[in-house]
Amino acid sequence: MTQDELKALVGQAALAYVVPGSVVGVGTGSTVNCFIDALAGIKDRIAGAVSSSEKSSERLRAHGIAVLDSNTVPSIPVYIDGADEIDHGGHMIKGGGAALTREKIVADTAERFICIADESKLVQTLGQYPLPVEVIPMAAAQVARRLKALGGDAVLRAGVVTDNGCHILDVRGLSITDPAAMERDINQWPGVVTVGIFARNKASVCLLGTAQGVKTLTF
Ligand code: 5RP
Repeated sequence: MTQDELKALVGQAALAYVVPGSVVGVGTGSTVNCFIDALAGIKDRIAGAVSSSEKSSERLRAHGIAVLDSNTVPSIPVYIDGADEIDHGGHMIKGGGAALTREKIVADTAERFICIADESKLVQTLGQYPLPVEVIPMAAAQVARRLKALGGDAVLRAGVVTDNGCHILDVRGLSITDPAAMERDINQWPGVVTVGIFARNKASVCLLGTAQGVKTLTF
């Protein structure tokens, strides 16, 4: 199976986690696009969606799915999103699509995070994929210097302005052996909006697309 077929497979499988009559939290990315397309088939059975990006909102609306203001939805049963990397504890690197801040906000209102990913995303230790860090533009150089002190090489993602009007640093060379500690530390630096380590808001379940079908990992 191709990577796109695996994404379609897990996008479809995630429908089983949607709670009928509820609001669904929707992530961002090519895997989530498959989920949104599948969700369209049961749109009459949900109360709408809270979306993590303008791109996903656009796709949801194009399917006739109502996109609700996150401020009006105090809690949601499930948030469904992809990942750039996920480890065997359910910790993830996210933000390849520059939507990490809104993704973390929606994940934080959800009771369960259902990660959908093809098997190439499963890793022993996070950090092969460059870690995205969303920053206030005037803090980019200072945050990059701090990352250097941790052993990371940060590069400004060219031409990208996030939905929040901020910039993204992509950081190579970090070995993320304690995801929760690194998430907590980097998040405290002035000018950091969000670091793309999802440890506090880790996955509850990962639906992993493999050549043998969908494998369900629970954390
Ligand atoms: C966007 C994300 C995505 O979930 C992540 O980049 C995975 O994307 P894809 O499903 O396209 O591989 O974090 O900010």
